[in-house]
Amino acid sequence: MTTALYPGTFDPVTKGHLDVLGRACSLFDEIIVAVSEENNSKNTLFDADSRVRLVEENLYPYSNATVESFSGLLVDYALKKKASVLVRGLRAVSDFEYEFQMAQMNRHLDSSLETVFLMPNEKYFYTSSQLIKQVHLFGERETDLVPENVLCELREINRLDRGYDQT
Ligand code: PNS
Repeated sequence: MTTALYPGTFDPVTKGHLDVLGRACSLFDEIIVAVSEENNSKNTLFDADSRVRLVEENLYPYSNATVESFSGLLVDYALKKKASVLVRGLRAVSDFEYEFQMAQMNRHLDSSLETVFLMPNEKYFYTSSQLIKQVHLFGERETDLVPENVLCELREINRLDRGYDQT
């Protein structure tokens, strides 16, 4: 029985994330989507509870996936959940440096934990939560890159014009 963590900020979850999740679900027995509670350094748009809920509402096609938030070091959370694999999505080459550093540091901290990179469908290669938020929150345009529940929330934020800090 292999438990894998799929960690990230998920601010918010995108169709690219769900694509990677689907691939992970077919490879491992159990997947825990691990939503980082940290939001200060990243200035997240959604708080941790909302980010978890937005993922949870999209889990119905993935019977072996659950979602939780975590704080502290990922390797400690993996140990607690008895997970032996970390799943990360790898898109364009630009992701590589950051992902390589994280994977190496996590291996340094716990050599029994293996990081596995999965590529999403190429239609999600050049998207990120950050860019998607910019497009949706700057004006009138929308993308088809987020699930329906996220789309509704972004529309609502837009409508309320909460003055999201883009920096
Ligand atoms: O979606 P993101 O923002 O690229 O996810 C980054 C995340 C949350 C996976 C990473 O920042 C993380 O693991 N944070 C937990 C703290 C930790 O363990 N840091 C050391 C990892 S090298």
